[in-house]
Amino acid sequence: MIPRRGDNQTVLITGCSRGIGRAIAERFAAEGYYVIANDLDRQADDLAGLKAAIEAAGGRCDTLFADVSDPASVEALVSNALKLSPRIDVLVNNAGVLSVFNVEDIAPDEWDRIFDVNAKGTFLVTKALLAHFRANGKGRIVNIASVGGKRGAPGQAHYCASKAAVIRFSQILAQEVAHDGITVNSVCPGIIDTDMGRNNYPDEASLQAVKDKTALGRLGYPEDVVGAAAFFASDDAAFITGQALNVCGGILFD
Ligand code: NAI
Repeated sequence: MIPRRGDNQTVLITGCSRGIGRAIAERFAAEGYYVIANDLDRQADDLAGLKAAIEAAGGRCDTLFADVSDPASVEALVSNALKLSPRIDVLVNNAGVLSVFNVEDIAPDEWDRIFDVNAKGTFLVTKALLAHFRANGKGRIVNIASVGGKRGAPGQAHYCASKAAVIRFSQILAQEVAHDGITVNSVCPGIIDTDMGRNNYPDEASLQAVKDKTALGRLGYPEDVVGAAAFFASDDAAFITGQALNVCGGILFD
């Protein structure tokens, strides 16, 4: 059998029940990785479906429930992941939430909810795995941020600020851990056709406006995003760290 780049490697991916996270999980499994797929316990049925699909395709997958915004839940997630696989090679922080409000309508609790999952969740899961990566002398951290973290749109100040936090967090961490063989990069999707993407642009007129702003003239699909995550996880990206790559069909050019 031809060797695959994920053979004998384990990836932990958060927020895998649907959308981009599910597509990343299926792609990594197809590349030979043992996938430990996380989501909230209320997503149990969808997560079971992901595990079944990966196994039906000949891959390996186990699932762990955890809320990435909750420190105790994240500690349990990482310790249970390390029981499933004594070595974890790659972490993909994908779990995320979005809501749309102009600033004067963002309730303080809603600001916290968005930051708790998107920014604090990325921090918590990453922090919990850092000692493990350092001990291995290698680790790949891939954070799913957003073009919103670079530019953003009205109605999304809280979401875009949380994604800007992910990008800057990744850049600083990349410098702190580089000498331990750990790379940290962000993927910045544009508008992707998932539950989140559709909720953001609920009617045909707003969807068309986004397509018109996109050089390639369409929404992205989850499958459009997975290659960037797989690349950052691979040895092909060994000399790349602290970067934030747009996967947006040409909505942004910087
Ligand atoms: P989605 O809403 O379809 O999926 C998000 C997943 O995260 C779900 O499975 C959900 O259950 C899980 N999740 C939410 N809160 C969680 C928590 N506290 N703990 C664990 N899991 C949790 O969203 P989509 O579109 O697949 O987004 C994935 C990532 O990509 C997110 O970080 C999102 O911000 C980012 N993104 C999405 C874009 C889009 O247009 N769809 C554009 C740019 C970035």
